[in-house]
Amino acid sequence: MWTESEIDGYIRKNLKEGRYLHTLRVVKASGELAKIHGLDPKKARLAAYLHDCKKYMRENELREYLRSHPEGLRDANRPAEVLHGFAAALFAEIEAGIPDLEILEAIKWHTTGTPGMFDLAKVVFLADMIEEDRDFKGIEALRKAAVKNLDAAMLMGLDLSLSYLLKSGKFIDPDTMHARNHFLELVRDKTSSNSKDNI
Ligand SMILES: [Fe+2]
Ligand SMILES: [Fe+2]
Repeated sequence: MWTESEIDGYIRKNLKEGRYLHTLRVVKASGELAKIHGLDPKKARLAAYLHDCKKYMRENELREYLRSHPEGLRDANRPAEVLHGFAAALFAEIEAGIPDLEILEAIKWHTTGTPGMFDLAKVVFLADMIEEDRDFKGIEALRKAAVKNLDAAMLMGLDLSLSYLLKSGKFIDPDTMHARNHFLELVRDKTSSNSKDNI
């Protein structure tokens, strides 16, 4: 299994400088968020290190790469913007020898999200959105939510990315929609059971 420094060497060589620096900030944010939520910071950092490692590949190369592995076949036709996560998860497992399912899933779902994600995957998804250089309307509320409650923050993050996708006329991956509805249900159920407790 590759160490952090081997992964660092690979991404430093293959990613443009801006993307490499973004990765380092996501690594930092993932480690911090994991600690706050009682998760393993080492696993969160490793997933973050690899999350964008296939960002340098073109769309047709990514589709080819996914098609060339049986586990990647069903993801090869997803929207262009999300392919790199699925390719990175394959690379992490096959090339970098990462055996840990939580780490692999965190890499895989970092752009789309999916219903029933591990908490580690929520941490990496959110860290990618809130790393210190990110700036968009609603980011401060998202940063606060990410520290307080992962599910509420996921709902907020998915709503933000869905409205961005709609506004910019981009394809929406079905998992993003399903994940958004899943977290809406979770957050609503929690709110209504809390208010019942107060009666
Ligand atoms: Fe990404
Ligand atoms: Fe990223």
